[in-house]
Amino acid sequence: MKPSKIISRLIATAVSAQKNAYCPYSRYPVGAAILTESGRIFAGCNVENASYGLALCAERVAIFNAVTRRQLGIRAVCVVANSAKPCGACRQVMFEFSTRETELYLVDLNPRTRRQKVRRTYVHKMLPDAFDPLSSGLLPAHPLNLIKARSSLSAQRRTGKARRKR
Ligand code: THU
Repeated sequence: MKPSKIISRLIATAVSAQKNAYCPYSRYPVGAAILTESGRIFAGCNVENASYGLALCAERVAIFNAVTRRQLGIRAVCVVANSAKPCGACRQVMFEFSTRETELYLVDLNPRTRRQKVRRTYVHKMLPDAFDPLSSGLLPAHPLNLIKARSSLSAQRRTGKARRKR
């Protein structure tokens, strides 16, 4: 199946981000890209450190990049590596902003031949029986709803203030 135009763009963004990976210790470059509900694409690459434990995976860099722009809902994720598979920590972080429909494209990119093998799966499928912010009762609703609730609350506060001024 030929990927749609937007998914091709998502994959191309992750392939390009992989080139910026800062991985002098593992020499294992990873690229990631996030397609948000609003149709925007955010990139990430792994960033390592001389203090090894501080390394951050490409997937989390991409997600945190999207969240920084207030883009909380993920429609699709793409990960590019020699053998692309998100680590457990990244699966949990992806789950937080995903729905059952959120697609995950795993792109095995052979560093020598540059041949790509694309596999499509779902974020939810990669983390069965996940620690879920909703069923645990930690969040009252999907993060997107929470943001809506917050902004309508601050709108109420603003109009309340306006009324009081009158
Ligand atoms: N890495 C990622 O960027 N994503 C993953 O899902 C797996 C691992 C990075 C972390 C580290 O910089 C390198 O790959 C080797 O573990």
